[in-house]
Amino acid sequence: MFEALPEPKADAILSLMAAFRADTRPNKMDLGVGIYKDSAGKTPVMRAIKSAETRLLESQDTKAYVSPTGSAPFCAAMIAQVFGKDADTSRIRAAQSVGGSGALRVLADLLKEGRPDAEIWVSDPSWPNHVPLMKAAGYSLQNYPYYDAATGQVRIDDMLATLSKAKSGDIVLLHGCCHNPTGADLSTDEWNRVIDLLLEKDLFPFVDLAYQGFGDGLEEDAAAVRLMASRVPEMVVAASCSKNLGLYRERVGAAMLLGKNEADATRAHGRLGSVIRANYSMPPDHGANTTEIVLSDDGLNNEWREELEAMRQRMVGLRQAFSEALRKRSNSDRFDYIAAQKGMFSRLPLSTAHIDSLREDHAIYIVGDGRINVAGLPEGGLDKLADAICTVLGDD
Ligand SMILES: Cc1ncc(COP(=O)(O)O)c(C=O)c1O
Repeated sequence: MFEALPEPKADAILSLMAAFRADTRPNKMDLGVGIYKDSAGKTPVMRAIKSAETRLLESQDTKAYVSPTGSAPFCAAMIAQVFGKDADTSRIRAAQSVGGSGALRVLADLLKEGRPDAEIWVSDPSWPNHVPLMKAAGYSLQNYPYYDAATGQVRIDDMLATLSKAKSGDIVLLHGCCHNPTGADLSTDEWNRVIDLLLEKDLFPFVDLAYQGFGDGLEEDAAAVRLMASRVPEMVVAASCSKNLGLYRERVGAAMLLGKNEADATRAHGRLGSVIRANYSMPPDHGANTTEIVLSDDGLNNEWREELEAMRQRMVGLRQAFSEALRKRSNSDRFDYIAAQKGMFSRLPLSTAHIDSLREDHAIYIVGDGRINVAGLPEGGLDKLADAICTVLGDD
C-alpha cells in the first residue's frame, strides 16, 4: 500500500522555519513564516482572548456536541463582523469552520455540488495553499494575472481581460483584503470594475478574507466584501480568525454565503452542514467559543479592537520605516511601494540566488518567491536589512 504513494513534497515555508531554528547565528532574521510577531519576535495570546478563555473555563459546563455548522451565536457575530452590524442578514448564512482553510475547503465542496463543471480562477500569484485546497475539492484551476512587480500595483486591465474569457458559471477566488503574498489590493474603483465583469459574465465570487483588520482597519478591510454583497446576487466568503484574533492553532473561521433569496440561502446552509458532516462531522469548539465571548462582550470587544489596531499600526509603521531605509540605502524610490501596500506581506524583487545569499551570508530568511512578513521586520535593524538586500542585489 504505502510504497505506492508518491513522495510527499516538502512545504517550502515549514522547511525554511526548520532551517531558521537550526541556525545558531545570533542576529538571524525570520521574514518567512506568515504569522504576526510583536517587537520581541513573539506571537503572544491576545489579552482579550486570555480573559475570554478564563471566563470560558469557569463557565463551561458541558463538552457535548454542538452541530456541524457550529455555534449559531458565533456565526451571527462573524456575519456582523464581516458584512457589517447593520447588514440585512436575511440572505446570509454562516457555518463555523476549521480556520480559514477549512472554510475554503467546505465552501469549495459546496460549490462543486452546485456547479460541477465550473473552474476556479485564482490570482497569479496567490497564497500557495489555495491550489491544493481547491484541487482537493476536485477543481481544475485557471490563473488570472494579478501583480506587477515593477510597480507594486495590481494589473487590473490584464486581470479583467483574462477573467473576461472565463465561461459563464465559473468561480473567481479573490482576496478580500491584504493580498497574500503581494500586499497589493484593489481600489474601490477596481473592485467595482471586477464586480461589473462578474455580473456581465455570470461569474461566481469566492472571497478569501484571512486578514480583516491588518490592512486599513477592521471595518475598512471588510469594505470590498460589503460592496460585493450589495451588488451580486450570490457569493461565498471564507473568513479566518487565525490572524486577527491570534487563534492560529485553535482553528477558527467561518464559511459564509449570500443566497439569491432566503430559501436559497437556507438550502445552501443545510447542504453546507451535510458537507461538513461528511468531512470532519463537527468543528472544534474552544477557539470559536472564545471568539464568541470576545465579539459579544462590549468590554472585551473594545480591548480586542485596540490590540488589533495596535498590531496594524505597528505593521504600517514598519512598512514606512523599511521603505525609507531602502530608499536611503538604494538612493531610489523603487521600494516605495512597500509603504503603500497592505497587511502582513510584500514581495521583494529577489531571485533564488539573492534569497540564498541573504540566508547564507546574512542569516536573513525569506521564502523563495521573495515574500516578506512585514511583522517580522526588525525594528532596530532595518538599515542593516536594507544594506544586506541592496548588497545582494548589487546596488553598490
Ligand atoms: C490568504 C490566506 N487565506 C487563508 C488562510 C488560512 O488561514 P487559517 O486556515 O490558518 O485560518 C491563510 C493563512 O495563511 C491565508 O494567508
